[in-house]
Amino acid sequence: MLQRRLLTTICRMTEEAKRLAGCAAVDNHVKNNQVLGIGSGSTIVHAVNRLAERVKNENLQVFCVPTSFQARQLILQNGLTLTDLERHPELDVAIDGADEVDSELNLIKGGGGCLAQEKIVAGCAKSFIVIADYRKDSKNFGDQWKKGIPIEVFPMAYVPVIKTIQQRFGGVAELRMAGPVVTDNGNFLLDWKFDKVHDWAAVNLAIKMIPGVVDTGLFISMAERVYFGLEDGTVSFRDKPVH
Ligand code: A5P
Repeated sequence: MLQRRLLTTICRMTEEAKRLAGCAAVDNHVKNNQVLGIGSGSTIVHAVNRLAERVKNENLQVFCVPTSFQARQLILQNGLTLTDLERHPELDVAIDGADEVDSELNLIKGGGGCLAQEKIVAGCAKSFIVIADYRKDSKNFGDQWKKGIPIEVFPMAYVPVIKTIQQRFGGVAELRMAGPVVTDNGNFLLDWKFDKVHDWAAVNLAIKMIPGVVDTGLFISMAERVYFGLEDGTVSFRDKPVH
């Protein structure tokens, strides 16, 4: 009983942390007449709610590019204006969640099954802003996130890609199963449980070069700022380090 109450309190605190991060990103980065990238996952839901509120209250005109089927639904359900990269190939701001953020502001993404469209949209944005709760803030990848690095692959290539990753970089790569999981793009997902800290920029490029890999959930040097909703009801942020 006590345990269940504790769990409910933690869930409520995490959800509130996600909401705070989402609101901070929308309040600090969205302006009238912008083209926005809308990420996927559970944290982005709060950002889109806040965006819809601002659009209504301030009579803003914004155009939203989705990063997944879920994001498209969110945009439509909130009465926001849907667009795409054909009409708007340059975005002002993209906002998205992350599964883990390291000290260099690199990200692991794709825990919820979307990553390729998220990376394309973030890559088209002048500013890529990430929102997360306090559990995602790490020094090194794997400190908090234990599910590995998601990698989207063409279905026919999943076995050779698994073998190549394990041989070249160690660890264990597994096909994500729920039947298997099929992405919005009709592909499979691998989760690579790495066994050491790598040079992530180099590993990302090397994995992307394996035939059959569509993209990885490693977002290297892409985020400009990450907002973290904290347990005490405040928000902190980290900016991309200057080297
Ligand atoms: C979607 O697959 C992901 O890249 C999400 O952006 C990321 O997993 C964060 O999701 P949550 O906001 O649900 O934690």
